[in-house]
Amino acid sequence: MSQNKQENSKSGRSYRIAVIGGDGTGPEVIREAVKVLKAAAGRFGFKLELNEFDYGGERYLRTGEVLPPNAIAEMRQHDAILLGAIGHPDVKPGILEKGILLRLRFELDQYINLRPVRLYPGVETPIAGKGPREIDYAVVRENSGDVYTGQGGVMLKGTPHEVATQIMIYNRFQVERCLRWAFQYTRKSGKKARGIGQENTLALVGKTNVLTYVYDLWERAFHEIGDKDFPDIKREYYHVDATCMWMVKNPEWFDVLVTGNMFGDIITDLAAMTQGGMGIAAGGNINPDGVSMFEPIGGSAPKYTGKNEINPLAAICAGMMMLEHLGEQQAADAINRAVAEVCATKLKSLAAGRMGYGTAEVGDLVADATAAR
Ligand code: IPM
Ligand code: MN
Repeated sequence: MSQNKQENSKSGRSYRIAVIGGDGTGPEVIREAVKVLKAAAGRFGFKLELNEFDYGGERYLRTGEVLPPNAIAEMRQHDAILLGAIGHPDVKPGILEKGILLRLRFELDQYINLRPVRLYPGVETPIAGKGPREIDYAVVRENSGDVYTGQGGVMLKGTPHEVATQIMIYNRFQVERCLRWAFQYTRKSGKKARGIGQENTLALVGKTNVLTYVYDLWERAFHEIGDKDFPDIKREYYHVDATCMWMVKNPEWFDVLVTGNMFGDIITDLAAMTQGGMGIAAGGNINPDGVSMFEPIGGSAPKYTGKNEINPLAAICAGMMMLEHLGEQQAADAINRAVAEVCATKLKSLAAGRMGYGTAEVGDLVADATAAR
């Protein structure tokens, strides 16, 4: 990316984006995200070179190959990746997820998974009595370690004494780089920085009462780094189970949360429901020094494939996060305003099939609003 930034200063801003539609409804929502990105590029004067890749279940079933051998090298040639969804009903769970999604995250060392939890005005939340003011925080999910590393094994398989292990692994390096990123993010995007709170607060989410090795490492690193380098950031700690409780009961307590890979996976599905569901929730797999990948956090929703019913807003918001990451803040802000406006004034619901508009029409509405305001 740094190379690209240098080129940009000379010859106008231009970004090479790898577009992976993926499985199920992935390609349809990505089409709408691309529509909106093009509207933003046109208005704010940058260029997008969009290269499509057919990675996903269909390709796997056709070729027997999950990713072609040059895939990772190919991805490295881009400034960012926009991904639809991975997961196919005819492929055993795990193969595509591990072979494509997790492989890209790991090999490109996208060690941060940033998942903003923001309720747009006019969007229905199942949390009674809470609105956009209360539901406005972000989860920084560590994205390279934990039980996701695949360490473990099985013994005596198929017998009544079968043993299975799946090991939660973290080293200080992984924990530290994630925490440092989270502190910096909190400094830049916490509630004080955004003018909506008294402090910028980073809360560690763990389970120090049971995971006495792994979350002890996290907790010590959290306070050491905080004391030494981020004294301006307020620190809090929550157990993960209690976090689920407060996400429902008092989401306004949260500003930025940081946690390990597995807890981050689980709590962000809960968080997504509070912000209006999988139709709107987006995330970024970020390597601050490399190639990052942006995606809706929901799955491929195969039953809606090809029906023009799925909500493309999560993919559109993933595109918005991508532009922000690439430094196109004004364009990202315009998309944000456009999404807010379409949510507030047009959509009946964010649920697939109940939006009052088709997938492509929602894309048109957001693209038009992005080009205009
Ligand atoms: C997510 C997904 C993935 C994860 C799966 C599909 C491997 O649930 O992005 O949250 O667990 O990270
Ligand atoms: Mn998940």
